[in-house]
Amino acid sequence: MENSVLDALLCPICGVEFAPLLRGANVLRCVDGHSFDMARQGYVNLLTGPGTKFVEDSAKMVCARDDFLANGHYQGLANELSKVVSRPFFAPTDSSSLYRPLIVDAGTGTGWYLQEILLALGGRVDAIGLDISKFALRRAARRNPSAANLVWDIWRELPIVAHRADVVFVVFAPRNAAEFARVLKPTGLLVVVTPRPGHLAQIAKLAHMLDIQPEKEAALATSLADHFELVDSSTVTLELALSPTDVCNVALMGPAGHHINSAELSRNVEGLAELTHVSAEFTISIFRPTAHKAALPQRRILTHRPAV
Ligand SMILES: C[S@@+](CC[C@H](N)C(=O)[O-])C[C@H]1O[C@@H](n2cnc3c(N)ncnc32)[C@H](O)[C@@H]1O
Ligand SMILES: [Zn+2]
Repeated sequence: MENSVLDALLCPICGVEFAPLLRGANVLRCVDGHSFDMARQGYVNLLTGPGTKFVEDSAKMVCARDDFLANGHYQGLANELSKVVSRPFFAPTDSSSLYRPLIVDAGTGTGWYLQEILLALGGRVDAIGLDISKFALRRAARRNPSAANLVWDIWRELPIVAHRADVVFVVFAPRNAAEFARVLKPTGLLVVVTPRPGHLAQIAKLAHMLDIQPEKEAALATSLADHFELVDSSTVTLELALSPTDVCNVALMGPAGHHINSAELSRNVEGLAELTHVSAEFTISIFRPTAHKAALPQRRILTHRPAV
């Protein structure tokens, strides 16, 4: 984790900033003295206090996601997302500028999309990856060692300084509109990737994938409407040829992975051809904070002060 990103973080216990990390240190300490161990892989668990009611993605789900993404099936989506996320920073910049934009990947998973974006930006940004799954963050932290990879519940107040982020992006993960609006600069952007109706339709039933509501995009805008307005959206369609293993992985890596029966899934894919042709359909939506909400003052976060 780069020290420059620490400036954007707040201690979840007392709401103050963190002290710079010394070289080789594996403890993150706030200036009030609260400390958080850094795992061997480089992520930090900031969750303290009562356990969260959200079930984290399991090691098996995370492994399936990593294998599927590593095969490059969603590279086309990553390329489009990188363009959208990096656009605000690619106005011909003054390379001598010390300004480092901040990107937040909410629900970073294995950090694969963030890695693509950091590559596109040539490492000239600070990045925070949030996820509730330590299994996912083990991989994300190895993949994006410069980023702050934090175990955190997106539905809580985020441990991030108000109006600091240039972009928050979310790929198939929960969206806490109020908190995204608080941490974004008034000129910042929220970029959301969602599946479109018809996404992987050819294998949806066999892979126990949830139906995608036809009105999903309108529902997305409505769910964010108190804090954001839609400024642009684009669609991405990828024609994929999936092996039976890919089909298993794509089933296990999504929400169905929490309850899917692996033996039944393996039986289901046995009858598939060597390659199954499917369409992956996505929308990339760009929102900006609505002015009145963006003006919220900086808050200290005091949600998890332990009993003394
Ligand atoms: C479908 S995966 C997408 C991961 C990543 N964005 C990607 O596309 O590769 C959803 C991710 O959201 C995380 N997640 C689910 N609920 C969460 C919460 N309340 N707080 C933080 N992360 C959460 C899961 O652990 C999982 O890594
Ligand atoms: Zn503290």
